[in-house]
Amino acid sequence: MAHYDYAGTSVFVAGGTSGINLGIADAFARAGAKVAVMSRSTERVDAAVRQLSRHGRKTLGHAGDVRDIDQVRAAMQVAHDAHGPFDVLVSGAAGNFLCPALDLSPNGFKVVIDIDLIGTFHVMRAGFDFARRPGASFINISAPQSVSPAPMQVHVCAAKAGLDQIMRVLALEWGEHGVRVNSIMPGPIEGTEGLSRLLTETERPQFESRVPMRRVGQKEDVANMALFLGSPLASYVTGALIPVDGGVSLLGGRNYAGTPAPTPRD
Ligand code: COA
Ligand code: NAP
Repeated sequence: MAHYDYAGTSVFVAGGTSGINLGIADAFARAGAKVAVMSRSTERVDAAVRQLSRHGRKTLGHAGDVRDIDQVRAAMQVAHDAHGPFDVLVSGAAGNFLCPALDLSPNGFKVVIDIDLIGTFHVMRAGFDFARRPGASFINISAPQSVSPAPMQVHVCAAKAGLDQIMRVLALEWGEHGVRVNSIMPGPIEGTEGLSRLLTETERPQFESRVPMRRVGQKEDVANMALFLGSPLASYVTGALIPVDGGVSLLGGRNYAGTPAPTPRD
């Protein structure tokens, strides 16, 4: 498939060492960008860099936790020094598990808020200082839980709704700097940790029969939207929450979470 030529551009993907986010990083590298990724595990960072390097562009990775803004800044400094100001910044680190609110400890709630919500603010805020201005495109990875309340997902619903409000406020404040800020809302995506945590293989056929497009998505479906948002084709798009979900967000949260009756964890 033909894409906008990203040759010479600099892309940073927070949480870009696995799943959907690695798919996005890979798509940018394939389209010619210099790509930097960051996540907690050094092994994952090294493996992602090996994968991305196959496209023949400059690639680097740096271990860091989005919950610590100093670690975010350190990783961005390395990427900025090697690749230049960020043309595209993706914030996709997240944590998720199914748990009814009555069984969720305060720390269980907090850990998802810390990674998804506060981590996103860290990535956006630190990223502004390293971004190409004007011209940069910031992309958050949201989820249907941002708009559809889902049982056993009180932590994720709160975090993703909050990060989309961060996105909208920053779009308002940073438009004058020529920085666009948007969110992609993926639906259930094949072969990912997130989907395996929400849906069992047994539940999947019944779930897929309810998806308007009658299938789960592919990582490429999400990456293609990121390639669009990062390009001049989207130069007037900011403050948008864009579903890439085959219509799943039209169904409401109970359909997304799969299991309607909350059950405590083992
Ligand atoms: N059900 C209920 N509570 C859970 C839980 C579960 N399945 N998994 C973790 N928790 C609670 C822990 O019990 C702990 O609370 P406590 O101190 O009161 O016992 C709290 O969450 C923090 O857990 P911890 O394991 O210390 O956090 P961590 O920082 O090591 O890991 C997670 C963060 C829990 C989000 C972990 O699942 C993770 O790293 N996820 C990343 C991958 C992922 O979720 N991918 C899907 C993205 S959609
Ligand atoms: P994944 O494979 O588990 O990817 C999560 C990534 O974030 C990993 O690279 C992980 O690497 C990193 N990460 C986690 N915590 C971090 C932290 N504190 N600091 C830095 N990096 C951290 O998940 P996925 O299923 O592909 O989901 C990716 C994104 O898509 C998430 O934002 C998720 O909410 C969203 N989404 C997913 C689906 C789906 O169907 N999968 C649907 C809707 C939305 P380390 O472990 O090395 O830190």
